Amino acid sequence: MSYVSESFWHDAVNKATCDLFTFGYKHVVKPHFVFNHTPDVAHDQMIEFCRVTKNIPPLMWLLREMLDYTDPILETETMGVRFANPFGLSAGLDKNCDMPVLLDHAGFGFETVGSTTSRPCAGNPKPWFHRLPEYDSMMVHVGLANDGSETVIPRAEEAWRRAKAMQVSVSIARTNDAQCGDLDEGIEDYRISMERAAGRTAMIEVNVSCPNTHAGEPFTQTPEALDRLFTALDTVERPQPTLVKMPLNKPWPEFRELLQVLAEHNVQGVSIANLQKDRTGLEIPREWEGGLSGGPTYRASNAMVANTYREFGDRFAIAGVGGVFTPEQAYAKIRSGASLVMFISSLMYRGPQQITVLKRGLARLLRRDGFDSVAEAVGVDVD
Ligand SMILES: Cc1cc2nc3c(=O)[nH]c(=O)nc-3n(C[C@H](O)[C@H](O)[C@H](O)COP(=O)(O)O)c2cc1C
Repeated sequence: MSYVSESFWHDAVNKATCDLFTFGYKHVVKPHFVFNHTPDVAHDQMIEFCRVTKNIPPLMWLLREMLDYTDPILETETMGVRFANPFGLSAGLDKNCDMPVLLDHAGFGFETVGSTTSRPCAGNPKPWFHRLPEYDSMMVHVGLANDGSETVIPRAEEAWRRAKAMQVSVSIARTNDAQCGDLDEGIEDYRISMERAAGRTAMIEVNVSCPNTHAGEPFTQTPEALDRLFTALDTVERPQPTLVKMPLNKPWPEFRELLQVLAEHNVQGVSIANLQKDRTGLEIPREWEGGLSGGPTYRASNAMVANTYREFGDRFAIAGVGGVFTPEQAYAKIRSGASLVMFISSLMYRGPQQITVLKRGLARLLRRDGFDSVAEAVGVDVD
């Protein structure tokens, strides 16, 4: 295997095209093709763009040649899964599995498809999104709209098998519709999707922390409820590792209790964390519903990553997510204990070359500080 980092010309072209994409997205694409539409329309158009272009192989080849930065220092292994790099798309942007071909060619280490639910789900009434560019944030109120796990998981399986280098994970959540019942009904809903996902993706993420549903978040309200859910999920045999998507707005003692429960179950990783519910200090119209992504999640999520690493060490692999816009921010999450780093908002605000910006920058920072791999830097700031 030849790495881009080891070829003078390929490396120079990769850097130049990355800079060109950064300029083009900021000055042309974003103002004239994305931000001139409402975020709901721009989101639909982006998904449609992925559906069409994934069937144009020369375009995908070009994307790979221009954007995919490969470097041995970025390769990593965690939970028994090998990654070309630690960066992944977080759950929620690609609920129905339309993006893997593009993301694979652009050089993502992994993608989280979903969240998907046992029944197809229409989600909440629109608008689903509001932009808050002053905070590098989106207000999200989708409510888990998706085609249902019976349809989405086979798509994810096929995408995983076909991917050149990218790992594919699937996020499963509880259906958000009028049929939602008691805790047992919710547990059965997750169990159905877990059975469908067993053995069909590189990883499974269990989303217990969606802030935008009528049933709320019953499985993070008490350790007992979480224990009941994972006792049921333990009965589903599966070869791939399981991560749990954690809530952001919990005081550390409560968060720790939830982790103590998960430590007793078939759970290998935690994704920290979901959307920010706290609007303190932010000027946001009251009538806007939903959780915040991007900037407002960054500090709180880093603190939870560090606390989790400090107290649980190697028991859980941590996928750090929330407000990663620069290589320095990704590096800070790794140094706080994250083995993997996920993002969505920076893709929307900065453009598709963001994956290349983060990879190039992280490789530079690791070398600057004398590390030979990502794994060596995990948790070094935590005492
Ligand atoms: C458009 C959008 C949809 C999302 N939907 C989901 C979802 O379905 N499941 C989930 O676990 N998280 C969902 N999230 C939360 C993200 O996975 C992530 O935790 C959060 O956005 C923080 O990352 P960021 O700052 O890089 O955007 C969503 C976020 C966004 C922006």
